[in-house]
Amino acid sequence: MQKVKLLLVAGARPNFMKIAPVIRELKRRSEEFDYVLVHTGQHYDEGMSDVFFRDLGIPAPEHHLNVGSGSHAAQTARIMTAFEEVLQKEAPDCVVVFGDVNSTLACSIVAKKLEYPVAHVEAGLRSGDMRMPEEVNRVVTDAITDFFFCTEPSGVTHLQQEGKEAGRVFHVGHVMIDNLLHELESLPPSTAPTPDGGFGVVTLHRPSNVDSPDVLSGIMSALAQISERLPLVFPVHPRTRQRLDAMSYVPPATIELTTPLGYRDFLQLWRRASLVLTDSGGLQEETTALGIPCLTLRDNTERPVTLSEGTNRLVGSDPEAIFAGAAAALAQAVTGRRPELWDGRASQRIIEHLARELRAHH
Ligand code: UD1
Repeated sequence: MQKVKLLLVAGARPNFMKIAPVIRELKRRSEEFDYVLVHTGQHYDEGMSDVFFRDLGIPAPEHHLNVGSGSHAAQTARIMTAFEEVLQKEAPDCVVVFGDVNSTLACSIVAKKLEYPVAHVEAGLRSGDMRMPEEVNRVVTDAITDFFFCTEPSGVTHLQQEGKEAGRVFHVGHVMIDNLLHELESLPPSTAPTPDGGFGVVTLHRPSNVDSPDVLSGIMSALAQISERLPLVFPVHPRTRQRLDAMSYVPPATIELTTPLGYRDFLQLWRRASLVLTDSGGLQEETTALGIPCLTLRDNTERPVTLSEGTNRLVGSDPEAIFAGAAAALAQAVTGRRPELWDGRASQRIIEHLARELRAHH
């Protein structure tokens, strides 16, 4: 039987932990599948890219497009131009894109125009906020996707409402949770001391939180107030670092700023935290999976299962609301449960569906 050939697209940090378990599954089924990994180079720093490939055991990509940073249009255009050439050369049976970053959007458009089927892992999520670049990426990618793989029921509902064919929409669970559970199995017990009373972990990188000095300084003052009760560790994303440097920000002794951490170092940190404060998408879900209280510094989330079933709470960007949210989370235990199908087997389900769907068209 002829093998099915998949082309997997990785671009930015949140893609890497989603691709790793899919590659593990493809290797397990190497008699049926070939795959090619393309890294667009949207994220390129050692700490934003290489460390994840090493930590997660992702093989070196067959193609690196080296696109780097730029405005949305410039970055998307560079990815599209470079990817078109690679795609024509590789001629896969299907292009698999992950999440909602610019690389996801750019490569799905190129694939569709060259008439390759597109599979979208993490399809159907909607924040309803079109000012978020990721929301544009999600809506456009899903408009041209052929196979939709959803992490939670809201994804399926949105795609139904948008009129997608039911037989192409699959609720499979979450590949990022596959990876989390896999990594936890081999993570040594942490030897780092935990301060009495615990500590909190912060991540911030959304343009809506960090690009305006007023909003960012308000958030930093709320964090300073929280840190008087709960010391905070804050690995700083490059976008946020630029903004803090521009404000000549000096943290109080109770907030420790670090460089971005690799996957395993970061996991070792946040899994011991009493509270996570973040505007990341993935961390809302990972904290839900491990039952760690999470405050999301946004007004909305495209991942509502983390609110209805998990440990996530929306607090927005207002300093008083952030402080009140932290006080409430510390005063009363936050409980939740792991959403349906977040069981470590999403990658298996995705590859099984693709095997069936793509063979039918072979
Ligand atoms: C991107 C994604 C976002 C994701 C985030 C995770 C889009 C639209 N946004 O946002 O969804 O949550 O990644 O990190 O795709 N930079 C570096 N080194 C790097 C990468 C970036 O210094 O390796 C700096 C550059 O100055 C760049 C800025 O960070 O201009 C922003 O990077 P960019 O990839 O444009 O967006 P992110 O904010 O990282």
